[in-house]
Amino acid sequence: MKTEISGRMDGFSPFYVMELLRRAKQLEAQGRKIIHMEIGEPDFPTPSAVVDEAVKHIQTGHVKYTAAAGLMELREKISDYYFKNYKVVISPKRIFITPGASGAFLLALGVSLNSSEELMMADPCYPCNQNFVRLLDGKASFVNVDAKTDYQLSAQLIKQNWNDKTRGVLIASPSNPTGTIISSAELARSIQQVSKLGGLFYSDEIYHGLVYGKKAHSALEFSDQVFVINSFSKYFGMTGWRIGWLIVPDSYIDAVERLAQNVFISTATHSQYAALAAFTEENIAELERRKFEFEARRDFLYSQLIRLGFDITAKPEGAFYIYANCSRSTDNSFKFAKDLLEQQGVAVTPGKDFGNNKENCYIRFAYTVSIAKMNTAIRRLEKFICQ
Ligand SMILES: Cc1ncc(COP(=O)(O)O)c(C=O)c1O
Repeated sequence: MKTEISGRMDGFSPFYVMELLRRAKQLEAQGRKIIHMEIGEPDFPTPSAVVDEAVKHIQTGHVKYTAAAGLMELREKISDYYFKNYKVVISPKRIFITPGASGAFLLALGVSLNSSEELMMADPCYPCNQNFVRLLDGKASFVNVDAKTDYQLSAQLIKQNWNDKTRGVLIASPSNPTGTIISSAELARSIQQVSKLGGLFYSDEIYHGLVYGKKAHSALEFSDQVFVINSFSKYFGMTGWRIGWLIVPDSYIDAVERLAQNVFISTATHSQYAALAAFTEENIAELERRKFEFEARRDFLYSQLIRLGFDITAKPEGAFYIYANCSRSTDNSFKFAKDLLEQQGVAVTPGKDFGNNKENCYIRFAYTVSIAKMNTAIRRLEKFICQ
C-alpha cells in the first residue's frame, strides 16, 4: 500500500509542548520530580456529584445515542444558565450539545465557512483553531495583537485587516494563552463591525466562569446572529468527558442539526447526563470555590514572575494562564523551555505553540498546580535564570 497523506495535512503543525511533555515523562521515569505548568486543564477532579450522576446512568443502561442536538433537558438547563448569568433569553433549539468546544467549533465552521474563505483570528491564539479552518479548506488569517488591545482583536483591527475573502472573525475571551479579556464595549463594537462588513462572528467563551474580579460578557448579550462556542471542560472541570455546546443563529439550526447527525451522531450519553448535575446550586458553589483558588494562584504567580523580571504587559484576568515575556533571559523561548525542564524540572509551554507573533519572546505558564508547587517552581526558575 502506498501511503499518501492528503495535502491538507501539510500545514498541521504538532504541539511543540508535546516534545517537552515526552521528555518530562522520561525524566519522571528516572525519578525526577517535574512541576507541570504546561498543562491546560484544571488539576481539580470532576466534582463527585457529577461523576455519581454519570455512573448512575451507565448502570441503569442510559447509554444509547441521544438526539444529535443533545438531551433537551440539558439544552434547557444551558438556556436557563444564560438567563441567570447574562440575562439573555436563548431558545434551547439554538443550543447544540457537542464533543467539547472542539466539536462545537467544527460544527460552527462546517456550516458557515466555504473553501478558500478566511477566518480572522488573533496571534497569539489557541493553536487548534487554524487547523479546523484548514480541515475545511479555508484559511486562517492572523492579526498580530499586543498589550494595546489586551491581546484581543478590536473593531479597528477587524476593519483594517478585512479583505474580500474574509468570512468572519473568531475571538476567544478570556484568551488562551494570554488570559486577557475583551471589554464589553469593544466586544459590542467588534460584533457591530463584523455585521457591517457582512461577515460572521464566532465567540469562543470556553473560559467564561474563570474570570477574576470582573464579569465576562457573552457575545449573545449584543447580538443573536453570532456563533457561541463553550464547553464543560474548564470551569466545570470535565476535560476528558468531551462535552461542550454551541449556540447558533436561528437560520443555522437546520444545517447544524444535519452536520451533527452525520459527523458525531451524538455526544457521549453518560457525559450529557453527568452535565445535567453540573448546574445544581451545590455544584456551582464548589466551582466558585475553585475559581477563588485559581484567582489566588494567578495573583501569586503574577507577582512572582514580575519579581523575576518577566514582562507581563496586560494583566491576565481569566482562564489559568500567564503569557510572560522572557526576552530579558533569552531570545529563544523554546530552548528556554527545554533547558528549564532539563535543568530544573519545570515544564512550561513555548510561545511557538501559539503563533508567530514574537513567539520566541514568550512562554505560557499554566497555574493548574497548587501554590505550594508553584512556590517550588518559582525557586527553581529563579535559580535557572540567575545562573
Ligand atoms: C481557547 C480554547 N478553545 C477551545 C478549546 C478546546 O476545548 P474542549 O476540551 O472543550 O474541546 C481549548 C482547550 O484548551 C481552548 O483553550
